[in-house]
Amino acid sequence: MRLQGKAALITGAARGIGLEFARAYLAEGAQVALADVNAAALATAVAGLGAGAHAVQMDVTDQASIEAGITQAVSAMGGLDILINNAALFDAAPIAEITRATYDRLFAVNVAGTLFTLQAAARQMIAQGRGGKIINMASQAGRRGESLVAVYCATKAAVISLTQSAGLNLIAHGINVNAIAPGVVDGAHWDHVDSLFARYEGRPLGEKKRIVGDSVPFGRMGTAADLIPMAIFLASADSTYCVGQTYGVDGGNWLA
Ligand SMILES: NC(=O)c1ccc[n+]([C@@H]2O[C@H](COP(=O)([O-])OP(=O)(O)OC[C@H]3O[C@@H](n4cnc5c(N)ncnc54)[C@H](O)[C@@H]3O)[C@@H](O)[C@H]2O)c1
Repeated sequence: MRLQGKAALITGAARGIGLEFARAYLAEGAQVALADVNAAALATAVAGLGAGAHAVQMDVTDQASIEAGITQAVSAMGGLDILINNAALFDAAPIAEITRATYDRLFAVNVAGTLFTLQAAARQMIAQGRGGKIINMASQAGRRGESLVAVYCATKAAVISLTQSAGLNLIAHGINVNAIAPGVVDGAHWDHVDSLFARYEGRPLGEKKRIVGDSVPFGRMGTAADLIPMAIFLASADSTYCVGQTYGVDGGNWLA
């Protein structure tokens, strides 16, 4: 039980990687507040987890919602020790077709949402005076451009940069800020990615996902389970000397 007695908030936890992180943290002895904008999916997810899981409806693009969500999580769990900034949106389009609305939406969720949720959690952790752990979900996409994925890549590059600055700033309070950069992780998110590539590259549905999975040096797409050991490490006392880093967990995909 590496997270016994800890209180964690995970954004975007109604499905996908965030939900699996919540399940893993509960198994390690933490209480978990699952935060998501999708109230129906959130209720179903929390009902399936049992004791120690708390539902927090939160829109990370809305400052009042972030602050209310942190307050609700703290009151349900008695404090806050760990934040995973996991909520994000993906979109794809050739440069000539990117819209300002898409740009604004992705930066609002992926970048401003990350920064201002991190800020609200850090304020709580500073007030508690016992340090904390903040984990931002970056991506291999933040380490390079991609022809059809300019906006998402730019948001994840910003997440890597914010992780560095917040890591340097908050370590004085004993708060470790680090990030995980997955490669390609199977799930509903990638079904959406696949459908966008099908449209822009003229492929049948499922083809892009198969090609991408086959080209990972490890030999397959990742799963949320592949990321869990890093998410536990970064939330545990073992990561005390880790500051502002983004750790790739991608089966070698980015290097290749
Ligand atoms: N799946 C991948 O291949 C992959 C690869 C690299 C990085 N990542 C990153 O990992 C994280 C999780 O990815 P996933 O595949 O589980 O995504 P997902 O799309 O399955 O889940 C994202 C969740 O965020 C929630 N969300 C969206 N907007 C929100 C908002 N404004 N406020 C609160 N919640 C909101 C959604 O409702 C959803 O439940 C994301 O940050 C993603 O960018 C994923």
